[in-house]
Amino acid sequence: MAAGAAGRRGLLALLVVSGVLAGAAGTSPNIVTLVTVDSGKLILSCNMTTPYGAMEGHEWRSGDKVLQKDTESNAFTSYTIEGKMEEHSGLYDCVYQMNPMIKGQVNISVPPQVVAYKKSEHGNEGDTGVLTCKSSSFPPVSAWVWYKNGQEPLINDSGRFIVKSGSNKTELRILKLNIEEDTGNYHCNATNSFGFGGATVNLRVRSRLAALWPFLGIVAEVLVLVTIIFIYEKRRKPDEVLDDDDGGSAPLKSNATNHKDKNVRQRNAN
Ligand SMILES: *[C@@H]1O[C@H](CO)[C@@H](O)[C@H](O)[C@H]1NC(C)=O
Ligand SMILES: *[C@@H]1O[C@H](CO)[C@@H](O)[C@H](O)[C@H]1NC(C)=O
Ligand SMILES: *[C@@H]1O[C@H](CO)[C@@H](O)[C@H](O)[C@H]1NC(C)=O
Ligand SMILES: *[C@@H]1O[C@H](CO)[C@@H](O)[C@H](O)[C@H]1NC(C)=O
Ligand SMILES: *[C@@H]1O[C@H](CO)[C@@H](O)[C@H](O)[C@H]1NC(C)=O
Repeated sequence: MAAGAAGRRGLLALLVVSGVLAGAAGTSPNIVTLVTVDSGKLILSCNMTTPYGAMEGHEWRSGDKVLQKDTESNAFTSYTIEGKMEEHSGLYDCVYQMNPMIKGQVNISVPPQVVAYKKSEHGNEGDTGVLTCKSSSFPPVSAWVWYKNGQEPLINDSGRFIVKSGSNKTELRILKLNIEEDTGNYHCNATNSFGFGGATVNLRVRSRLAALWPFLGIVAEVLVLVTIIFIYEKRRKPDEVLDDDDGGSAPLKSNATNHKDKNVRQRNAN
């Protein structure tokens, strides 16, 4: 029996170590809450450990959203989520529908799940470059830091960099982009009470002249097209004679229009 109790304590400790916060919370200290991970599923559970009166049922909520509802009166209730903790981090409530209502809070807490708004950004020489990273996981990010190629953090004081960060987003602005100095990989690093996470954004700085290339490309394309059409029109005239031979059995009327067509075209060519 003693070994069993120790084993259970071991399981609880393991869950806490693996990044799951478990324990009594919310409005009632008499509810034991737990998150267990079981073959791709997350099982959130609440267990009322003290005697209670009449109960109409349970509700599982996340924010204002009701996720699950029942009309049972058990002390124990659970809610299963398919997927990983990283995809479902947040605050969940188990509500015991009694008078007064009692609820427990289950937190799924993970290190920041950071994504770059765009993995690669482009900017023109002299313009302002904007790189953005986001994290919407729980707990919120407490600090964001930007690095370039593993060097010192990029901070406001350096003149050309402006860092603006919120709890779920950070933005690095680089003023007066320079091809040699600013091209490269930037790393955003987020820290919360559970650890850290990051993402990399590649920045390419183009010369002012390069911005003209697409325009020059279009001009070249138009020139090539015009040339092709011109050559085609020139070559087509002998072909039409052949066409007329083939269409010997065609109705007279369509032949007539054909001729008219040809006359018009010849007039145009002249
Ligand atoms: C709920 O808590 C009670 C009292 O602490 C305990 O006896 C029971 O085994 C628990 N139920 C579950 C499903 O863990
Ligand atoms: C869950 O998160 C909330 C909000 O950050 C916090 O107030 C509460 O103490 C956390 N609960 C547990 C059991 O860690
Ligand atoms: C980020 O935070 C803002 C306000 O703080 C909120 O409006 C927005 O929905 C949040 N975005 C995500 C992805 O959580
Ligand atoms: C950097 O400067 C901008 C604008 O001047 C400001 O909004 C931002 O909070 C500053 N960031 C830091 C980390 O000081
Ligand atoms: C992110 O920041 C944390 C805390 O400062 C640090 O330990 C970690 O090495 C950083 N990670 C990267 C990839 O820079």
